[in-house]
Amino acid sequence: MVKIKINDQNLYAREGENILKLALKEGIDIPHLCYHEIFEEPYGACRLCIVEVIKDDERFITTSCTLQAQNGLEILTQSPEVVKHRKILLELYLAQAPNAENIKKLAEKYGIEKSRFPKRAFVTDHLNGKCILCGLCIRVCGEVMKAGVINYIGRGPSTKINTPFFEENPDCLGCLACVNICPTEAVSAEEVENRKILKSWSETKVKMKECKNCGSLFTTYPLWEKTKSLLMEMDTELEELCPNCKRELLIKKLTKNLPLPKPY
Ligand code: SF4
Ligand code: SF4
Ligand code: FES
Repeated sequence: MVKIKINDQNLYAREGENILKLALKEGIDIPHLCYHEIFEEPYGACRLCIVEVIKDDERFITTSCTLQAQNGLEILTQSPEVVKHRKILLELYLAQAPNAENIKKLAEKYGIEKSRFPKRAFVTDHLNGKCILCGLCIRVCGEVMKAGVINYIGRGPSTKINTPFFEENPDCLGCLACVNICPTEAVSAEEVENRKILKSWSETKVKMKECKNCGSLFTTYPLWEKTKSLLMEMDTELEELCPNCKRELLIKKLTKNLPLPKPY
C-alpha cells in the first residue's frame, strides 16, 4: 500500500490504483465524462477530471483518470489552477454541445452562464447538439460489442462520429450500448414497428426478434444470434461446472458482451 493525500484527506491506496476511481469511492467529487470502468485503459479524452499534483518539488496538472497512485502523491481537486482550466474546458463544451443538460449544469456550478466560443454543434447535429466527441460510443461498439459500426470522421473542428460514408451499417447489433454509455445522452434510437432505428447512426435499422409464444419483441436478431453463439461456445466450459458456478460464469460472460446498464 502507498500513502497519498487528496485535498485534506490522507488515504491508503494500492500502488498504481486509478486516482479518479479511488477519489469517487471516497466520495470526493471530480467531474468526469469519458471515464468508464468497463475499459481497462482510460482514454483521457474529456480532460474534465484534471487535478493538480504535488510530488517532490514538482507541481503539475494532469487528468486523474490516467493518474496512478504512488507513495507521497499530493492531489488537489479544486485548486485555483484546476478550476481555471476546468472553466475553460466547460466553455468549450458549452460551444461544442450546447444542448447537453449535464454540461449546462456543470457549467452553472462553476459560475459560467455562456461560452465565449462560437457554437459548433452544426457538425454533430445528428447527435442533437450534445456530443463532446469523448469516443465512448466508438469504444463500446468496437471493443466491447466487437461490432465496429461507428468511428470518427474528419479531423479538427469538423470531426464527427458516424457510420462509414454516412450510410446504414448492416453490422449494427441494435444493442444500444452506444446509447447507454453516452455521458451526454447524445445518441438517439427508437423502436418503430419491428425495427430498432439508430437515428444518430445514419438511421441504421435492425430487425427485432419476436417471442415464438406471445409474439412480443424481446431483442434484435443479431443480438439473439450473438447470444446463441456465445452460449454454444460456452457449452463445453459449462459442462463440468456445478449449477452455482454455471450461473456465475454465465452472468459474467453475458454481461461482458451484452448491453451495458446506464452508468450515469
Ligand atoms: S447499437 Fe449498433 S452502433 Fe450502437 S453499440 Fe450496438 S452495435 Fe454499435
Ligand atoms: S455520442 Fe456520446 S459517447 Fe459518443 S462521442 Fe459523443 S458524447 Fe461521447
Ligand atoms: S474522465 Fe478523465 S479525461 Fe475524461
